[in-house]
Amino acid sequence: MTAAGQRHKNLLKRLAMMSTLERNHQKSHRGRPGPELVRPGSSPHWKSTGKTEARAVMSTGDRQSIHGQWSSRLAFIMAATGSAVGLGNIWKFPYITGENGGGAFVLVYILCVAGLGIPLLMAEVMLGRRGRQTPINTMRTLAGEANASQGWQLIGWAGTLAGVLILSYYSVIGGWTIGYIVHAAIGDFSGLTGDGATSLFGDFVGSPLAQVGWHTAFMAITIVIVARGVRNGLEKAVTALIPMLVVLLLILLGYAMTTGHFMQGLTFLFSPDVTHLSGTSVLTALGHAFFTLSLGMGTIMVYGSYIPKDTSIAGTSIAVAVADTVVALIAGMAIFPIVFANGLAPGAGPRLIFETIPVAFGHMAGGTLFGTLFFVLLLIAAWTSAISLTEPAVTMLIENFNVTRRAAALWTGLATWLLGFGTVLSFNVWADVKVLGLNFFEHLDFLTSNLMLPIGAISMALFAGWVMSKTMSREELDMKSEAGYALWHVLIRIVAPIAVSIILLHAIGLY
Ligand code: PHE
Repeated sequence: MTAAGQRHKNLLKRLAMMSTLERNHQKSHRGRPGPELVRPGSSPHWKSTGKTEARAVMSTGDRQSIHGQWSSRLAFIMAATGSAVGLGNIWKFPYITGENGGGAFVLVYILCVAGLGIPLLMAEVMLGRRGRQTPINTMRTLAGEANASQGWQLIGWAGTLAGVLILSYYSVIGGWTIGYIVHAAIGDFSGLTGDGATSLFGDFVGSPLAQVGWHTAFMAITIVIVARGVRNGLEKAVTALIPMLVVLLLILLGYAMTTGHFMQGLTFLFSPDVTHLSGTSVLTALGHAFFTLSLGMGTIMVYGSYIPKDTSIAGTSIAVAVADTVVALIAGMAIFPIVFANGLAPGAGPRLIFETIPVAFGHMAGGTLFGTLFFVLLLIAAWTSAISLTEPAVTMLIENFNVTRRAAALWTGLATWLLGFGTVLSFNVWADVKVLGLNFFEHLDFLTSNLMLPIGAISMALFAGWVMSKTMSREELDMKSEAGYALWHVLIRIVAPIAVSIILLHAIGLY
């Protein structure tokens, strides 16, 4: 056996031992806090001596994640919704809708979520629950089960890297939301003019030191939660934060209704005018559908590896996609009336929130309070997504490098924090340092959203549709309706790879 084979064998053994212990541990600690990671020590429940035998001996019903499990179906839905609902929904969705003319774009986006987002979400959750490990090891195990090339584990490596890269800039923007909570709370928005908002934002991002401070704060609150583990960290945080997010969103929606421009906002969002729709808008809608659902990088695969065996994958995936879409639509319904009420441009682009929202709130009764609440909402959304972005790397360090969750969280946080300096500097000192027309931050964004996520998503679709046997995916999805399963299979096997290839080719400018 080669050295790599030997390492793999040891790893499988260790995982097997840990999973048994973890199960026993969960039985004896139900309801009580305690460490989530349990070290090996008792006899293995299933035995594996390498790829082939693992396939023969392993009963997947017995496979357990060593990192723990969600306590319920609802906990998974909340966690996955927390991952999905992020800066993508509240910051990006409104501005790309504004740039792409409103209603018709929203319609295409909803069709993309339903036709491609949901099947891909189901596929990623399914792979995760079947493999029950970090994406790298899950893909290795599942490729082994299907007798396919070990090269499929590249999906896991690329996803883990994508998570770290995305988090490095997500944390900087997340830091801005903390900074803006402070600005809002101390009344800096009151009476703010358009020029005033531009210079407030300019001064804010212009100071590398201040930005590093906010970035550090955001990374710290993320890592603290991640270090505490699946149940005591992630699950507790999302079950507290998601209801807060919903309440804040509804308060803002109620506030938007009082602006006198609510109907104008609704018309903008929901009356499709197809003359506004270009080929690029369709592709933007498609690409955003899986960025917003956190697809293609293994986050959802890890979250899927923590779900209880008897949870319906189709039902939960639909719930998450619906929740994510509803939040994006409500964010749009809350933001556009405010934009119109203040004569602001809906197509202002990425600065929409950080420049125009403060102006809007600065001129409204109760603006200090509602402006603060708005950025708290944005922070919560970014925070629960950031937590999920760390999971592929954290679980990889635990499984493959044998470190504790706390150490894994710290190392991941440290590496991403350092990388984040590149983004911090991209808004000031390095703003004009461009390679191929893009600065550091723009490269990161392009590389991850336009290349890594689509490639990850397409590879997962190909694996689930072509490599994994139908018997296996049918068993794992366990859908009530055979027609539903057949539809999923066609979407994942044929439609998704073609549609995603089109986005990808467009993104790299091949047509
Ligand atoms: N879905 C998140 C958002 O909309 C972003 C994200 C992408 C999170 C990939 C995790 C993984 O902001």
